[in-house]
Amino acid sequence: MANTVLIGAQWGDEGKGKIIDVLTAAVDWVVRYQGGNNAGHTVEIGNERYVLHLIPSGILRPSTKNVIGHGVVVDPLALVKEITDLEQRGADLRGRFFLSDRAHLVLPYHNLLDACREQAASAGAKIGTTKRGIGPAYGDKAARVGLRAGDLLDPIFPALLQRRVEEANRVLGAWGQPPVDYAKLLADCQAATAKLAPFIADTIPMLNEALARKESILFEGAQGTMLDIDFGTYPFVTSSSATAGGACTGAGVAPHRIDRVVGVIKAYTTRVGEGPFPTELLDAMGEQLRKTGNEFGATTGRPRRCGWFDLVVARYSAMLNGIDAWALTKLDVLDAVPVIKICVAYDCDGERLTTVPANIRKLERCKPIYEEFPGWQCKTTDATTFAELPAGAQAYVRRLEELTGVKVGLLSVGPRRASTMKLTQDF
Ligand code: GDP
Ligand code: IMO
Ligand code: MG
Repeated sequence: MANTVLIGAQWGDEGKGKIIDVLTAAVDWVVRYQGGNNAGHTVEIGNERYVLHLIPSGILRPSTKNVIGHGVVVDPLALVKEITDLEQRGADLRGRFFLSDRAHLVLPYHNLLDACREQAASAGAKIGTTKRGIGPAYGDKAARVGLRAGDLLDPIFPALLQRRVEEANRVLGAWGQPPVDYAKLLADCQAATAKLAPFIADTIPMLNEALARKESILFEGAQGTMLDIDFGTYPFVTSSSATAGGACTGAGVAPHRIDRVVGVIKAYTTRVGEGPFPTELLDAMGEQLRKTGNEFGATTGRPRRCGWFDLVVARYSAMLNGIDAWALTKLDVLDAVPVIKICVAYDCDGERLTTVPANIRKLERCKPIYEEFPGWQCKTTDATTFAELPAGAQAYVRRLEELTGVKVGLLSVGPRRASTMKLTQDF
C-alpha cells in the first residue's frame, strides 16, 4: 500500500482505530507520531473489543510492525499496563513493537499539574482535558527540560528525575498540592524500564531503512484537526500537531516519502471537552446521536457532545491536510433520523463565513447555516456494497463528496472490520 497518513478531520473520535485496523491488512508498519494516552482508539474484531491509547492499532494484525514515534509523549507506567493487557489477551509484541528513544515521557507530576491547572481555571477557561498530563509534558519538551524514553536506560536517570521532581514539587506546592514522592516514582520508573527496555530503539533509521526497502508505512494520527495546537480552536485544543504535517516531524520521515493522506470523518460531528462547537445539538436529536452512536469517550468515559456534519470544518480540514480520500464513518448512526442537516456555512454577526475563524470568540458567535437532507430511515449496517445502501444514504454520501471536493474511499456502517466498504480502487 502507498505510504499513508491517516488523520482525524474533526474533533477526534472519528473512528481512526477502526479504519487503521482495516488498512493494516496491507501495510508493513504502523506508526503513531503525536499525542499520548489522551487518545482512545477502538478496534472491534469479532466479539473482541480493544481500546488502544498509546500502542498503534496495527498491533492487532500479527504481520505488522508498530512504532511509537518520538512525536508522541509516553506515560511509561500506562504503556507497561497497555503492553501487559495486550499480552494477556494473546498478543506477542516481541520484535514487532518499538518505542522511540527520543519520545518524551509523561510522568505522574505532569498529570497532577494538568489537573491543578484545570481546577484553578475559571468557568469558561477550563479546557476539559483528559488529565493525562499531555499539556505539561509537551510544555517541558518545548521548555527543553523534558525526560525522554532513552533517558530511562541511562545510569544518570535517577539524578535527572530528581531535578525534575524537585521543580515539579515547588510548582505543586504553590498550587497547595502534596509533593510527589521521588523514591516511589523512581522505583516505579525502574520497574517500568525493566519491561520497556527491549522495545526502546532509535526508530528513525529503522523507519527510513524500511522505506528504502520499499516497505509501506501507515501513520496513525491521534485526536483531530480541530484539536491541533496550531489549526484547532485554540486554546481549546490538545498540545500536539494532529494534522498531516505532524507525521514528518513526529516520525522522522521526509515529506516526499508520503504518498497520500486519508481523512477519517464522521457522518455527523462530536466533541469531548470544552470549546466552541457551532453545530452542537443540545436537544433530543443530540441525545439520539449520542445514544445511537454510543458517543462516550474511549479514554475518560465522558459523554461526547454531538451535532450535525460541519462542512466548514470538513473543507478546512481537507485543505490543511491535503486529504486525498475520506474514510467516512458512522453513516449507520443516521439511519433513523428523519431530516439530516449539513452546515454549509456560518453566519457570524450577519457575515457569511466559509472558513474557520482564528478568533474563538468569533467562532462562538457563529450560527450554522444548514442545508436539509431527507433521511433514508432504514438500516444500512448489513450493506456490503454501495449499491446495497438505500438511495437516500447513497445520495447523502455523494452530496458530502460534492460539497467537500474529496471522494469517499472507505465507508463504514458499523464498528466491526466487516462493516466497511471500499468505494474506490486505491483501497
Ligand atoms: P478514534 O479515537 O478516532 O479511534 O475513535 P474512537 O474509538 O474513540 O470512537 C469511535 C467509536 O465508534 C468506537 O466505539 C468505534 O467502535 C465506533 N465506530 C467506528 N466506526 C463505526 C461505524 O461506522 N458505525 C458505528 N456505529 N460505530 C463505529
Ligand atoms: P482520539 O485520538 C477526542 C480533547 C480533550 C480536551 C482537549 C485537550 O481518541 O481521537 P488533552 O488531554 O489532550 O490536553 O485535552 O482535547 N481530546 C480528545 N478528544 N479524542 C481524542 O483522542 C482526544 N484527545 C484529547 O477532551 O478537550
Ligand atoms: Mg478516541
